[in-house]
Amino acid sequence: MKTREAMAWARQRLAGAAIPDAALDADVLLMEASARSRAALYAALPEPLPESALRRFEGLVDRRLHREPLAYIVGRREFFGLDLMVDSNVLVPRQETETVVERVLDLVGRSFPHGDARIADVGTGSGAIAVSLAVHLPGARILATDISRPALRVAALNSRRHGVEERVMLLLGDLLEPLDGPLDIVVANLPYIPASQWDRLQPEIRRFEPKGALVPGQDGLAAIRRLLCQIAGRAERPRWTVLEVGDGQAAAVVQEAHRRFAGAHVTTFRDLQGLERGVVIELPAAGHAG
Ligand SMILES: C[S@@+](CC[C@H](N)C(=O)[O-])C[C@H]1O[C@@H](n2cnc3c(N)ncnc32)[C@H](O)[C@@H]1O
Repeated sequence: MKTREAMAWARQRLAGAAIPDAALDADVLLMEASARSRAALYAALPEPLPESALRRFEGLVDRRLHREPLAYIVGRREFFGLDLMVDSNVLVPRQETETVVERVLDLVGRSFPHGDARIADVGTGSGAIAVSLAVHLPGARILATDISRPALRVAALNSRRHGVEERVMLLLGDLLEPLDGPLDIVVANLPYIPASQWDRLQPEIRRFEPKGALVPGQDGLAAIRRLLCQIAGRAERPRWTVLEVGDGQAAAVVQEAHRRFAGAHVTTFRDLQGLERGVVIELPAAGHAG
């Protein structure tokens, strides 16, 4: 079979099964199966696809037809310009989370002339936030926690892959509990999907992504509330907390932050789609309110 025919076959099968972005996915799977870059693949379209690559390709297309996320099939996802390794132990990093990274970079740029901030990434998963921050902030110290040991293994691979393992400390435990000492910034993309919404999620998420990375309990804000409670209980509170929240949750998180931290300056920010996606809580410098 010519490479062009294999591509057309896969595009048609995936589109016929209503796979979102069928043509794009078919191309990526064919690049993976034939170990070619996009440019090399397009140059090879008139040539026959070697039998071994065709078999591999059929296997990959079959996995996608079963709704396995593309990122798990190819084992990678691009995030904030970095190639990250992912597997089914970690949430596939989402584009909206890049907005959260931008917020933290902006805060550090404005408040730390030498970039030497101490930052905690709570619920690090693949290490997407922690590794991106470490790459862009060579003077910063990043502490990243997760409740999932297998997720931390993936984060460790990613921090080594991008040469930041010396500055990203990975710790197993509940939210901020594994961390002693002062922190300047806490950033977190914690699970925020209410249990009642689980059945309505697309099959890629429901069947393949770790539920513990997405659902904190019946109440979508349970993990965020507990994090704010831990922050309030710390001897030295972080000056800034940057939280990713679900669509429609920002107002409740802002209210919770004001309730817990008197005198806090609380703002929200939107993702590229214009959805209110994040909350920044700035505590007064002395930080003993609430
Ligand atoms: C929504 S995922 C985010 C992963 C990554 N930060 C990202 O943005 O792609 C949430 C992560 O929080 C972790 N997590 C859930 N509950 C936690 C807890 N109580 N303490 C620490 N991590 C937790 C999950 O294991 C998961 O890796």
